[in-house]
Amino acid sequence: MPVAEEANVYAPTMREAAPEKPLKTTYINNRRYLGNKYKLLPFITETVAENCGRVTSVADIFAGTGAVASAFAGKRLITNDHLYSNYICHLAWFSPQAYSQAKIKRLIADYNTAAVTTDNYMSENFADTFFSRADCRKIGFVREDIELRRSRDEINERERALLITSLLYAADKIANTCGHYDAFRQGAEFGRQLELSVPLPPEGLNSGNVCCNEDTNALVKRISADLIYIDPPYNSRQYCDAYHLLENIARWEKPAVRGTAGKPDRTALKSDYCTNKAAAAFADLIRNINARYILLSYNNMAQKGNDRSNAKISDEDIMRVLSDKGDVRVFTQDYKPFSAGKSDIDKHEERLFLCVCKPKEREIIRSPLNYTGGKFKLLPQILPHFPERIDTFVDLFCGGGNVGINVNAGRVVFNDNNPQLIRLYNAFRDLGGKRVLSMIDETITKYGLSRSAEHGYDFYGCKSSAGLCDCNREPFLKLRADFNVENEGPVRRIMLYTLIVYAFNNQIRFNNKGEFNSPVGKRDFNNRMKAKLTAFIDRLSGGDYRFTCHDFREFDTTAPAENSLVYCDPPYLITCATYNEQGGWNEQSERDLLALLDALNERRIRFALSNVLTSKGRTNTVLAEWADKYRVIHLNHSYGNSNYHTKDKSDSADEILVVNY
Ligand SMILES: C[S@@+](CC[C@H](N)C(=O)[O-])C[C@H]1O[C@@H](n2cnc3c(N)ncnc32)[C@H](O)[C@@H]1O
Repeated sequence: MPVAEEANVYAPTMREAAPEKPLKTTYINNRRYLGNKYKLLPFITETVAENCGRVTSVADIFAGTGAVASAFAGKRLITNDHLYSNYICHLAWFSPQAYSQAKIKRLIADYNTAAVTTDNYMSENFADTFFSRADCRKIGFVREDIELRRSRDEINERERALLITSLLYAADKIANTCGHYDAFRQGAEFGRQLELSVPLPPEGLNSGNVCCNEDTNALVKRISADLIYIDPPYNSRQYCDAYHLLENIARWEKPAVRGTAGKPDRTALKSDYCTNKAAAAFADLIRNINARYILLSYNNMAQKGNDRSNAKISDEDIMRVLSDKGDVRVFTQDYKPFSAGKSDIDKHEERLFLCVCKPKEREIIRSPLNYTGGKFKLLPQILPHFPERIDTFVDLFCGGGNVGINVNAGRVVFNDNNPQLIRLYNAFRDLGGKRVLSMIDETITKYGLSRSAEHGYDFYGCKSSAGLCDCNREPFLKLRADFNVENEGPVRRIMLYTLIVYAFNNQIRFNNKGEFNSPVGKRDFNNRMKAKLTAFIDRLSGGDYRFTCHDFREFDTTAPAENSLVYCDPPYLITCATYNEQGGWNEQSERDLLALLDALNERRIRFALSNVLTSKGRTNTVLAEWADKYRVIHLNHSYGNSNYHTKDKSDSADEILVVNY
């Protein structure tokens, strides 16, 4: 568990020194939540352990409390719930962001001893309903203080989430309810007082964890994981009704509330899974899922209880939809699977439907960076030669990233020795598509670069064939000059991408001094470019993609584990490309790489090497001799197509893939 160095910025404002009182701790399951699966965790984890292959990533996409995700702590987790009050708890429990536990403890100690005597949103709207007036005042005060500290940067996002989680758990513990907030018990005594505890997240969290807060049907289109766990609401009870008060405290937007229970407008939070749209929503969800295994919890109260508790999706619909996706088995709580055809599946209340998904053909997407020698055109020939199961794929010379982004693997590590490129990829991943697009837009506006997608070519006085060189030259050179002196950071990275878009052939070229020096090009940020960029960033946000910047010689050949594939697409010794200029790749580099591949082979790590054996009458003899001991696959592609400098387009190069499996 990463815990940050204790920050010095903390300064208590409520009282100078809180008396020493031992603080209580709280865990993910110390909360009441309708349909939570805490008690079913052994059933769930054993079903997965016994029936699924290696699982390195798990998405809990109707996560509720996050209990199921917590059972897979250590693996890469994706959590999602459309309730913000659940999402904020997921950030607390699973976010990889470091935090100061000492800071959390001191703030909680202060909150617990603070005497709050003035009214606020909570006491004005909820005094003596779910909580006493005093506790309402305290809840409102604490919630306000958390926001204030975040706005002053005294706490980070994770610390904010941990404090809100602590408050929500504490409030729920003393709430005058029978577990949900549809109503409170009239005339009840408010015996217990609010006491915050320190949340203790699970140990050994994965640095790739992502927490989301959106409609699941939209989310699944962007994510992939080995295992996707689905636990939707199964009857007409809306969670946004049952937990409106916790949602209100978590969001802290202080909306007007109505009725005895003080509910705000929740129209946007109603779930289709609680209505007669449930079966259609489920079918759409499953169709869009990208996973090796789907595990579904669905209660079988269909037509058994009262109308409110009747299941919204029939077993027939569940089986039909899941069977379209792959092989389905049903497990009951006593862990005994039986085949889908048998009729006794609705004897039990708790069931798990496990679907082993048919491998899905992923759409091949194109890198938003037009790298010389990029492998996009060869992908349909290369990908089928990769092994079926790849846990970690290393794209050692990733360049434009066309191969890594299109491969089916549990994790993809993109490596390149160009730090500018790796920083750019990290910016894409960290900023997300929306922010990247708006930053590019700001840059285009600031420098007055063309927008042919909006205005057409005629507007700029040029025909499509001649391109936009003339009108973009001046602003491009100004942007280039500013970029070369700009301090490192997200702004500089997006300046670089904008430069690449407007540069000659979209080339990424730096001189000896490290200055970007490609000249202006003919095109701009047109709809095609925009679509490529968006698809690329979307895919990055939905999987385990990492970026490293090393010379290939520094690559640790002992790092890849079983089921890895190290893919190498180095500069080619006998063809000319931008990265070969200034003596970037020579015979020694070639020999060093081949030695590295031999070392991998000795360790039984799979590799695949792309290269060119002969081109324009030249043969790479070093490669030819070495490759003899492995399997050489000849691909059918003319290298002339992708290399601007190759004048003789009729010359066909012998593109090969050398593999050791
Ligand atoms: C049965 S509960 C999940 C319980 C969870 N497995 C646990 O152990 O705590 C269903 C969850 O789905 C969420 N939900 C309902 N519809 C959703 C949607 N369309 N998108 C995202 N989350 C949704 C609800 O807020 C609720 O937390």
